[in-house]
Amino acid sequence: MSDQHVRTLVAVDGSVDGDLVERVLDDPRVAVAAVGDASMGWPGREDAEALLVVCRDGSEEGLELVRRGRSDYPGRPVVVACQGSPNGFLRKAFAAGAEDVVQISTVEGTGAETYLALAKAVARRESDAVATAEGRVVTVLGPKGGTGKTLVATNLAAALSVKHQRAIVVDLDLQFGDVGLVMGMHPERTMHDLAISGGHPDASKLDGFLVEHASGAAVLLAPTRPDHATAVTPPLVRDVLRVLRTMAPFVVVDTPPAFSPEVIVALDESTDICVVAMLDVASLKNTKLALETLTLMGVKADIRLVLNRSDTSVGISHADVVHILGRAPDVLLPSSRDVVRSVNAGEPIVLTDKRNDSAKALRALAGLYLKEGR
Ligand SMILES: Nc1ncnc2c1ncn2[C@@H]1O[C@H](COP(=O)(O)OP(=O)(O)O)[C@@H](O)[C@H]1O
Ligand SMILES: [Mg+2]
Repeated sequence: MSDQHVRTLVAVDGSVDGDLVERVLDDPRVAVAAVGDASMGWPGREDAEALLVVCRDGSEEGLELVRRGRSDYPGRPVVVACQGSPNGFLRKAFAAGAEDVVQISTVEGTGAETYLALAKAVARRESDAVATAEGRVVTVLGPKGGTGKTLVATNLAAALSVKHQRAIVVDLDLQFGDVGLVMGMHPERTMHDLAISGGHPDASKLDGFLVEHASGAAVLLAPTRPDHATAVTPPLVRDVLRVLRTMAPFVVVDTPPAFSPEVIVALDESTDICVVAMLDVASLKNTKLALETLTLMGVKADIRLVLNRSDTSVGISHADVVHILGRAPDVLLPSSRDVVRSVNAGEPIVLTDKRNDSAKALRALAGLYLKEGR
């Protein structure tokens, strides 16, 4: 809503008395964008925030205006101002798609009632739109253990969250997940507890299984024992990711070094994939294979590439990397002892070290996601 006004399209059923229509609109906050009628239908005004049908009780034309308003202006609420008794008409009006029905009073005050009904309907739409907005799902992928997937996933989530773009980390390294360890968290509740709790994982239920981190991020932890991993099935992972992305602007998925069934589901649900490669020949070869596999799988997500330990002197030049992988890395992540220290301390380095070059590179990665939007 712009300031206090509701830009409203009005359509009038011809049988309503003219002075009653004036009464319905008698409030300065009802900003009439255009007026149509039952014979001509709705006027074209894309900037309208709400639609108002003025009609008699039981009016078929009025109901038809509601239906056409819903289909011509999807996402905009339709309110009905009804002359006569709305009893019996209410149900039909709601069934046609009306959001609210106001009875036109023959005394003063109908204008204010109309305004309130329109303003509430618009506010409801806006809050629904926020609640169902879908965040991005970034799956962090890497061909081998120790390439830096967990380092990247945890620091990306922390860096996004301190910039007020809350990220929920899902640790899909179901057997040997260490997100909790790297972020200094206690495994009070894990995905295994969620899996054995049964039922559909809706947002309020999932909230109870997330562990909060000081950065504002939250984590759905991997099971604490490898033999518990099988309880977490691919369909559960799919459901969980679909719900989590309605709960935060970012879901960051950490993965094991394999295209396991859960990882394939996560890739299917992802808007973004962050591939972590390391600067050695075997890792580059496997990264190339992984990139080719993603293409073969028909994955549509945007792919970013992080080259970890990019400063290692192993006789592979930047040109060699681009030649082998067929693309340039988006972020170069150098090695640093402080990284090892931060991992051991359970504190993401992006939060604790302003100057360290590895921390800067990880913040730059988060910056790419923050800048891009979708
Ligand atoms: N850029 C780096 N500088 C220093 N140590 C690193 C760096 N990247 C990874 N490491 C070390 O390697 C370990 C394994 O990284 P991790 O992110 O757990 O790999 P993955 O999740 O791919 O198995 C980390 O705990 C850290 O000690
Ligand atoms: Mg890992």
